[in-house]
Amino acid sequence: MTSGVMLTETVDPRKPSTVRVWDLFIRVFHWSLVALIAVAFATGEDAERLHVQVGYAILILVALRVVWGFVGTKYARFSSFVRPPSEVVRFVQQSLSLRAPRVLGHNPAGGAMIIVLLAMIGVVSATGVMLTTDAYWGSEGLEGLHEASAYLLLALVLVHVAGVVLTSFEHGENLVRAMWTGRKRA
Ligand code: HEM
Ligand code: HEM
Repeated sequence: MTSGVMLTETVDPRKPSTVRVWDLFIRVFHWSLVALIAVAFATGEDAERLHVQVGYAILILVALRVVWGFVGTKYARFSSFVRPPSEVVRFVQQSLSLRAPRVLGHNPAGGAMIIVLLAMIGVVSATGVMLTTDAYWGSEGLEGLHEASAYLLLALVLVHVAGVVLTSFEHGENLVRAMWTGRKRA
């Protein structure tokens, strides 16, 4: 009787064992960033005060993420997911033919995309901050650059989400849910 109970507890097939991968900071960071960037897009045209405040919040989030990339938990560290370009290219090729290995943390392609996304947010924010200064206030060239970089960021986000969907499909796991719960199949 007791051993039966223990058995169902340890090898219950309905509860496959999972491990914690994304820490609380990463999860709060990711979904706040998504929400704030959505608000930034919605307010860029005509709600400038709110837009600038949201923009600064995005900058602070990204700065904290960069620090966390050096001092954070195992899978949050840049050293755990930044790979040389050759490896990134090979991984993309493997992914496109659905033959990429499963990676518990960010895979090489995802890792490269993270760096590109963070850098692009940096460009959008830097041009945005410059637009608020006396020197560049009303500069049409810089406004154009700010807008163009924002739309380039949007295009990158679409590729990012496509990569998430492809990888989820390839390995039969819901990576979006994992970014919410922090846990993945062991
Ligand atoms: C990821 C963050 C951001 C996104 C996606 C974003 C996006 C946009 C977009 C789409 C516009 C409209 C451009 C136009 O129609 O001319 C805009 C305008 C503007 N943004 Fe941002 N922005 C971001 C961050 C920032 C930051 C951090 C600041 C300043 C601290 C800022 C300051 C401005 C200003 C002053 C304008 C008005 C320029 C104009 O009148 O055209 N933005 N932004
Ligand atoms: C403005 C839009 C977005 C930006 C800027 C963005 C940025 C990022 C960044 C920087 C990471 C790395 C997380 C970290 O280690 O800090 C990440 C991971 C991730 N994002 Fe996004 N993201 C965006 C939208 C989305 C959306 C809409 C989804 C889902 C539909 C999504 C799903 C994911 C998932 C599942 C991961 C983890 C990938 C993995 O398993 O390696 N993201 N994203």
